Order: sequence, then structure tokens, then C-alpha cells
Amino acid sequence: MPSRTNGVGVQVEETKICVVMVGLPARGKSFIAQKAQRYLQWLSIRAQVFNVGNYRRNDAPHPTADFFDMNNEEGERKRRVAAESAIADMLAWFRSGGVVGILDATNSTKERRKWVMDTCSSNGIEVLFVESKCDDEDLIMANIRDVKSTSPDYRGQDPEQAASDFRNRIKMYEKVYQTIDEGNGEDEYTYLKLMDVSKQVIINRIQDYLQSRIVYYLMNLHIRPRSIWLSRHGESLYNLDGRIGGDALISSRGEAYARKLPELVRQSVGDDRPLTVWTSTLKRTIATARFLPSHYNQLQWKALDELDSGVCDGLTYQEIKDRYPEDFAARDEDKYNYRYRGGESYRDVVIRLEPVIMELERSEDILIVTHQAVLRCIYAYFMKKDQAKSPWMNVPLHTLIKLTPRAYGTEEERYEAKIPAVSTWRGKGSTAKHENPTPESL
Ligand code: F6P
Ligand code: PEP
Repeated sequence: MPSRTNGVGVQVEETKICVVMVGLPARGKSFIAQKAQRYLQWLSIRAQVFNVGNYRRNDAPHPTADFFDMNNEEGERKRRVAAESAIADMLAWFRSGGVVGILDATNSTKERRKWVMDTCSSNGIEVLFVESKCDDEDLIMANIRDVKSTSPDYRGQDPEQAASDFRNRIKMYEKVYQTIDEGNGEDEYTYLKLMDVSKQVIINRIQDYLQSRIVYYLMNLHIRPRSIWLSRHGESLYNLDGRIGGDALISSRGEAYARKLPELVRQSVGDDRPLTVWTSTLKRTIATARFLPSHYNQLQWKALDELDSGVCDGLTYQEIKDRYPEDFAARDEDKYNYRYRGGESYRDVVIRLEPVIMELERSEDILIVTHQAVLRCIYAYFMKKDQAKSPWMNVPLHTLIKLTPRAYGTEEERYEAKIPAVSTWRGKGSTAKHENPTPESL
């Protein structure tokens, strides 16, 4: 089969990987699985989580702990059927072009892992086991709290009873759980062991580029509480004119935003949390961040510069339509993939932002002052916006966005500076200099 890259430099055509989660309940497996899916999808690599619990719920929607007792034959049978159905669906999905399937289940015995391994191998699929081990009581308790309030297994039940049943379920698994181990004859396997979500990691026999990419990403995840603040630069002179790109200074209202930003940040972050500030290398973001407290570390990233609009740099949308009518139409047709002549597409921006995302995952509290298109791409990663919609999203000027990653998704808060600014949002087909965003773009 001819190989082709997907634009991320990854040869995806021949590679098919099943990421097999391993570990006791309440060890953050689903969190890790969801993050990996999101990251890969954001990079346009076809990835899908197959959660065995969801399949099992068809047959046993609200099982009590004894269902998971290894001596419960009926329970064992139903769990086996659920795993078989999940894998059958995953194999069909691989045949339709899937690249990274993530099997989210406990896979807690050597025997179960061998079966998954053999099934995948005989279908030409590489296997990467990802085991999440965790002895940190606080992390486990946080997970139990999460499960009892969010798991469909316990819907409608008394929370305390749910927590106690869930603890008993974990005990059932503990009786049979075998960690992936060289001594177990599993030294040939490709695996990543994460202890307390990346405090310590063990990597065994990683084989190729895509696997090492996934491993590197997972190694960088952490679950310590933190937030990410996003802001565009203050209104620029180009924004006033409706011109795109360039390296213009900020307007007097943009300057007022820069002066107000420390107060907005203090309101949201508090006084004593250390914050790191990332800007682009362009004047308008640097000027916007310059009144922030001097004890905040500041870093300029070229990767945070605005989408490069090539030959259209410095033009208004009307001028672009007049000079390059076909390009103007093509961009509206497929805004994510359209690449400006001599410039970039949104897809290109995502690729150059990948190291920024990796660094963000490793970091604690960060404030990013950047540009409309770049902010849309970062936002899309955290908020799971799809590629067709994210380039049309309204990101108002003079607004601070706070994103807080949680176990199952990201929370968002917005702080408006209440300093007027033009709108730089543009609807499909329009060449208006300053257009009011439609409700769907919010
Ligand atoms: O107008 C401000 C701006 O940041 C331009 O520099 C950039 O080309 C544009 O927004 C990106 O937005 P869109 O993709 O909607 O044209
Ligand atoms: C489940 O049934 O919730 C589950 C994850 O299944 P298993 O432990 O059998 O993989």
C-alpha cells in the first residue's frame, strides 16, 4: 500500500495501533483514553475510544460489586461478551480506515491481555498497552467521587451506597489483577506504565513513530489542578481598519485593555498563584502583556504568531475578494483546509501548535496572549470543537477566557474587560469590516 502522510508528518496509512488500557477501576484510564483520542483527532489522526463498560451496560446496566467477582460465571460471561463486541466493532472500524483504536477496559489479567494481543496481531494491528497504576489515595478517592456522580452504573442511586459498592468492585478486581510484568512473560509486549499519572513511567519496546508520539503525549499528562487563560491581544490599528495579518501596534482602546489585563487576571487567578505568560513574537501581543506583574515569567513563542495569510497579509477581506476572488470563495468553502497563497491554513497552524499543546499539558497555570486564529485552534483542542466549526468561532477582543481541565472535559469562564473594541469576526461570504457575530458562532 502506498504510504501517505496525514499532514502531521506521521505515516498513517499502514499503521494501525490498538492502545489497550490496563488497570484497576478508578485509576484514570478513561481520562487518559479520552485525552489520547482528543489529541490524535485534533491532529487529524483517526482515533476512537471503545469502552467495554458501555457494551457491558447493554446486558447489565446497574451491576452490583458481586457481578465482578471472578467466581460469578454469569458476570464473567457477560463481561467477556462485552469485550468481544467492543473488539469486533473496533476491528470493523480499523477496516474502515481507523488508525488508533483505544480499548478502554480493565484488561487486568495476563490471560485477557494475551487474548487481546492475539486478536489484534492476527488482524495486522499493533498493540500498545498503557497501564495506569496508582497508589495515591487522594487520586483514587477523587476518581471514586467522580465515578459515583457521573457513571451510568450508579445513576439514580444514593451516592454513599454507590461509593461503597464501587469500592467493593475494586476489591473484586484486586483479587485477580496482574500488573504487566516481564516476569509474567509479557516482556515482548510494547507497553507504557504510568505510575500516579506520570510521576514515574516505564516504557518497554516502543516500535515506531506514531507509538512514540502517543507515549510522549501520555507521559506529559498530569492531573494536578490548574487553569489556562487565553486572551487575544488588545485591539490593533489593523483591527480598526479591518486588515488582516501584519505587525501593527495596539490602538488606544487596545492600550486600555493592556492596562486592565493585570486586574482581570488578578480577579480570576488570585494574588498568590504564580503564572507564566506566553505571547507571540508580534508587537500587539507583547504590548498587551507588558503591564502584567514582573514576577510572572514571560516567554515569546513564534508558534503563537497569527496564521500567516501570505500574499493577503495586510489586506481587508474586501480587497482579498477583489484581488483573489477564487481564493476568497475557496476559503469560505473549506476554511480549515484552505491555505493562503504563500501562507498557512488552520490545519497548518494546528501542526505548528503541537509543541505548544505538549508544553501546556506538562505545565501548571499559563496565560496565553495570542491571536484570533491561533486562539481558535488552542480552544478547539481543549473544548473538543470540530474542524469545520472552529475557524468560524467568535473570539471577542478584550475578553479573558479561563479554561480548567477536569476529569471529563474542560470548564470555561469568561471575563469581559468592558472596554469597547471592533468585532473582527466574519461570517461566510461577507466582506464587512466589522460584522456582528451570529448566535451560532459563539
Ligand atoms: O483580523 C484579525 C486576525 O487575527 C487576522 O490577522 C487573521 O488573518 C484573522 O484574524 C484570522 O481570522 P479568519 O480566519 O476568520 O480570517
Ligand atoms: C466494565 O464492565 O465496566 C469493564 C470495564 O469491564 P472489564 O473490567 O471486564 O474490562
